[in-house]
Amino acid sequence: MHTLNGRNIIIGISGGIAAYKSADLCRRLMEAGADVRIVMTRAATQFITPLTMQALSGHPVILDENEDNADKGPDNAMAHIELARWADAIVIAPASANTIARLAQGRADNLLTSLCLASEAAKAFAPAMNRVMWQDLATQANCRRLVEHGWLQLGPDSGLQACGETGEGRLLAVEDILAQLAQHFNTGELAGVDVVVTAGPTYEPIDPVRFIGNRSSGRMGYAIARAAAEAGARVTLISGPVTLTTPEKVRRIDVETAAEMQQAVMAQMGGCELYISTAAVSDYRVKTPAAEKIKKSADSLSLELVRNDDILSAVAAHPLRPFVVGFAAETQNLIDNAREKLLRKKLDMIVANDVSAKPDNAEANQPAIGFNSEYNALHLLWPDNHGEIQQQFLDIASKQTLARQLLAIITEQYRNRQTHEQDTA
Ligand code: PMT
Repeated sequence: MHTLNGRNIIIGISGGIAAYKSADLCRRLMEAGADVRIVMTRAATQFITPLTMQALSGHPVILDENEDNADKGPDNAMAHIELARWADAIVIAPASANTIARLAQGRADNLLTSLCLASEAAKAFAPAMNRVMWQDLATQANCRRLVEHGWLQLGPDSGLQACGETGEGRLLAVEDILAQLAQHFNTGELAGVDVVVTAGPTYEPIDPVRFIGNRSSGRMGYAIARAAAEAGARVTLISGPVTLTTPEKVRRIDVETAAEMQQAVMAQMGGCELYISTAAVSDYRVKTPAAEKIKKSADSLSLELVRNDDILSAVAAHPLRPFVVGFAAETQNLIDNAREKLLRKKLDMIVANDVSAKPDNAEANQPAIGFNSEYNALHLLWPDNHGEIQQQFLDIASKQTLARQLLAIITEQYRNRQTHEQDTA
């Protein structure tokens, strides 16, 4: 599996003769399944045209001018904040000595450096410059500083340089940049672990053509399944009716009703080590769905609903229970309601999701979250080894970015639980 598949990646291009190679990097990242956006510094536009990068990436290139025009209308407003949230990774290639120095100092004096400061995405830089500039102690110190701050340094390579000299400072070969990025994303932290994820809505039939459903798109669950597969898990995704493509290396079982989902989930018990219940399962079903399409002859119509079993509680009560993570979609009293579900359903962790219908708040630059949105924000609650409830908030970001952050925390708690059980056995 290529771990770059489905990633939102920003290529930052700074000024240098190697800028032309970022065209190839863009093409290769897209071939690997990444969604790519380009940010160019003013100096970079002297070496390769934004039009070339726009044609390759299929999206307008973001330039310093976008930020200069931030007060000239909503289309230009806060470009770097939106992008910062969208990105899973920012790769600066080529990274000039000047850009590296600015980043090391935490400056925000152009759009690219502002973007890097404002983003929690993974960050990488591929230095490219003359060998003497590269060897300069200031450049070396700046690179060390970035690495200390969590940046991944890619190269440089050595060989014949554009200036005619030979030495270290060439941009790392594009295939090596790709390989190192892919390796960086492939955490392997759940290697060999059997994970079951539920996603999407359930449809409860009223008659042969109508159903009771909900607004779940499946995006959150699919993003979690993808993140788990990237971490090396064997993933079974039990999915209600959605229009999403199955993530690579994920086994998908399609279901429609809550009862079908329950059957599919319970069939995994025994082998499943980690269960993540993202699906928006209908709490009720129609007691007796009509065999034929209901005609609109009467002025009103009553449907008798009966409760569906709670699949999550059944998993948590199973004698061979896995580590159980539930979600709580709430429109009010988010944390209190989630805490109550965590305890009542005897879960190992709950992920509270505010699904109160909030429109996009353009003024605060906040996209919509929750059901059927690209973005989300999550509150995690779990009992520690002493039964004290711990909390963590994952701020608004794309569902894929959040899924990876969430999975890192779930993995930590799952491993922690295993160690605790071994110690107390
Ligand atoms: O699919 P998206 O558009 O990306 O939206 C994501 C999401 C909003 C659906 C997701 O983030 C989310 O919050 N999922 C939980 C939805 C839900 O049904 O929450 P709940 O509070 O009603 O249920 C609590 C938990 O019990 C959930 O883990 C649910 O999967 C589980 N459940 C509920 C009912 C039932 N009969 N069986 C269950 O297992």
